[in-house]
Amino acid sequence: MKPMRGSSSRVTVVAITGVAVTALATILAAVSLSNPDDRPGACESQSVDAPGQGCAKALVGLFEQGKEIFRFDTFGDEDYWGGILQLHKAVEGAALGGVGPGVSPRTALTVAGLKVDVDALPGNVQAQLKQGKVDLDNPANTLALLGVNAVVGVKGFFDSRGSLSSIGITCALCHSTVDDSFAPGIGKRLDGWPNQDLNVGLIVSLAPNLAQMALQVLGATDPATINTLKQVLLSWGPGFYDAEVNIDAIGFRPDGKSAATRIPAAYGHLGENLHTWTGGFGNVTYWNAYVANLQMHGNGNFNDERFNDPGKYPAAIRGGFFKLRHDPDQVTSKLAPLHYYQLSLKAPTPPPGSFDPTAAKRGETVFNGQGKCSECHMPPLYTDAGYNAHKPAEICIDSFQADRGPTGAIGSTMVTAQLSGLWARSKRGFYHDGRFRTLLDVANHYDACFNIGLSPGDKSDLVEFLKSR
Ligand code: HEC
Ligand code: HEC
Repeated sequence: MKPMRGSSSRVTVVAITGVAVTALATILAAVSLSNPDDRPGACESQSVDAPGQGCAKALVGLFEQGKEIFRFDTFGDEDYWGGILQLHKAVEGAALGGVGPGVSPRTALTVAGLKVDVDALPGNVQAQLKQGKVDLDNPANTLALLGVNAVVGVKGFFDSRGSLSSIGITCALCHSTVDDSFAPGIGKRLDGWPNQDLNVGLIVSLAPNLAQMALQVLGATDPATINTLKQVLLSWGPGFYDAEVNIDAIGFRPDGKSAATRIPAAYGHLGENLHTWTGGFGNVTYWNAYVANLQMHGNGNFNDERFNDPGKYPAAIRGGFFKLRHDPDQVTSKLAPLHYYQLSLKAPTPPPGSFDPTAAKRGETVFNGQGKCSECHMPPLYTDAGYNAHKPAEICIDSFQADRGPTGAIGSTMVTAQLSGLWARSKRGFYHDGRFRTLLDVANHYDACFNIGLSPGDKSDLVEFLKSR
């Protein structure tokens, strides 16, 4: 017997009760008349007789909306980066009314690792750049780039006289880069690719007024504390960021090294359960709300009772992060399109010639067989189906990072990293903190940890397979 669909049984109930018929009609009318923005992406009713009808258009709209938010939405965080930290003053420099030397386009592109979206540059500017006629050492030209919204992930706000009055950041700051097609650091946007050159800590350390950040993160505003905050920021380096220090106030690992992690890819995550490096936080949409409110300092609403824990999360307590409220809430209505957009981002395929296909094929056999890699990295997701996190001891690493996340069902864990598009995110090494410089180091680590007995040939085949992902 064919299983009966839920919708059919509902129809039966409706048919025998007149009251329910009226109620259903009212609901249907409400659904069709309601503003689609109320329930973004809900394109299909429970009646699946004609699945897909109306969905294609709704989902394209959701994708475009999500892309716009991911690239350009600051969630009002300019109130923090410009308004409180005065970061825009450091960017413009004393000559233009700010403070210090200012940030020239050359410094922005090289030292800070910021990227420029070539498609946002007017044709004449592109021509002048090609001919070397743009003074890359003049901060005024950084303002000009901000003025045409060409600096990836950074939004400048200008007053009526054309002066930079504030600055905000978007998701694309860390999770987009460019293809360098015009010049190094200048090209077409690549959303979801981590910016492996971006020195977030250095950029933030330039802010003229770090007092409020020091107060929230470290609990004081005296010069010594501000200096400690700067040391923490400057310890991160290119392609790294610490998304927990402003909840747990832990700036360094016990061995004195930076507590920052690699900025991960925002692509290739469809079908995964838990996210971020440690398993305890939650999934993509949880994390988006976390980042928009607590990291970017957007003006939204956010709940997480787990942060109401003065022992583990003293900085979150100082920021009131377990229950944030803003009116208007500039985050929550954007979570659905943002979620959809990220889950739509496919991992990039490795360039031809970047790996040996025959060796990769052999490596796949090692991966799924003797190496036991697929015990956790299950094809085709390459993370675990089900609860995709493991105790750090299972992969023979320390629990420092795992312990910083909220404790999940099985204690502190690390998420099984998906392996797609590895080549586009491996400049800073592997594992959450880049502790393994090369894939061969990773293979050697597992060989020792699991006592597998891989031959040198097996290991190099495994490496070629990982490069092919
Ligand atoms: C300042 C840099 C920065 C900004 C801005 C930023 N992120 Fe992230 N993002 C990170 C870092 C670092 C992590 C890893 C956090 C961790 O595990 O501790 C991360 C993790 C993630 C993850 C999880 C990836 C995975 O491998 O599971 C997603 C998804 C994500 N960010 C999306 C976003 C979105 C959406 C925004 C904008 C609302 C955003 N991020 C803004 C740095 C940033
Ligand atoms: C017990 C589950 C488990 C097994 C088995 C396992 N891994 Fe992992 N793998 C993980 C976890 C968890 C991480 C994340 C570690 C971190 O970020 O610190 C990871 C990370 C990785 C990474 C780094 C990805 C990145 O973005 O940095 C690679 C590469 C990798 N594993 C390859 C392998 C290979 C090859 C094997 C087999 C020899 C294997 N794994 C076996 C759980 C596992």
